[in-house]
Amino acid sequence: MKHLFYRRRKFFDDDFDWDTYGQGTSERRLKRAVRPMAALGQLSFDPESGTVQSGAGEVHPNQQLILEAIGKLQPATVHEVGCGGGTHLATAKSLFPAIGFTGGDRGAGQLELAIEQHPELKGHLGLQDVTMPFCHQWPRAELVFTQAVLMHIHTAVSHFVALSNIVRQAQKFVLLVENYQCHNFVRDIETLYETGHLAWEHLSIHRIDGSGGARGILLSKTPLDLPVLRTDLQIRDGDEPSIRRLMRADEGSLRGLFGFDPA
Ligand SMILES: C[S@@+](CC[C@H](N)C(=O)[O-])C[C@H]1O[C@@H](n2cnc3c(N)ncnc32)[C@H](O)[C@@H]1O
Repeated sequence: MKHLFYRRRKFFDDDFDWDTYGQGTSERRLKRAVRPMAALGQLSFDPESGTVQSGAGEVHPNQQLILEAIGKLQPATVHEVGCGGGTHLATAKSLFPAIGFTGGDRGAGQLELAIEQHPELKGHLGLQDVTMPFCHQWPRAELVFTQAVLMHIHTAVSHFVALSNIVRQAQKFVLLVENYQCHNFVRDIETLYETGHLAWEHLSIHRIDGSGGARGILLSKTPLDLPVLRTDLQIRDGDEPSIRRLMRADEGSLRGLFGFDPA
């Protein structure tokens, strides 16, 4: 009964208690959402084609996109916001050993799990709530990325705060790999930028595609040789519309009060 009631809640599956997001939940969700995850040491990056290939087993398209973006952009440092069990960080660290990796997550249990599964991440992870006011203790990185994090944030104006913080934390690039129906990411980012909520003086919003078919939103301080995103339709292209998610995305966008309008 309690379970049924929980499932009927409007925001079921979002903004939920990440402390209860333990190994069982994590594995179930990974199977459903980002399956399969290639094991360490199975992957290689080909700089010529800019693609990541798996020697054994499949690589999930989202994971492939993240790794390919890192390989192509070659940032000196990378930070993952909402790194969860640390799979992406550990894989990227083994594939690109010259790059410095850090990760933050608001769940202490997530970070414990990450270190248990990937002891090499110890000393590179920290507790971080990206919806808090910007913190100067957060590690800066040339590339900051998220995968399946902002799509879950729907409390008040928190996702605007998170976007603004992520851009400020990033020195060159931001990569978002999310469900693009959960927020109007392109419109919200453009509005934040135009109304003075983003730290970067110049902003280009690009679409980046992985060789496995996944799509990402890539923000950069300078224009890149990639398709420019002007509307959310361009990044939702091909998705089966989810009326519930799209309505909630619009509700989220409407919650923002931007800039400083003269009274
Ligand atoms: C669906 S999991 C994705 C984990 C990881 N990015 C991956 O792809 O495997 C979402 C993660 O975001 C984290 N998270 C949620 N809200 C957050 C916030 N406000 N600040 C930092 N991390 C957050 C959760 O604790 C959880 O580990």
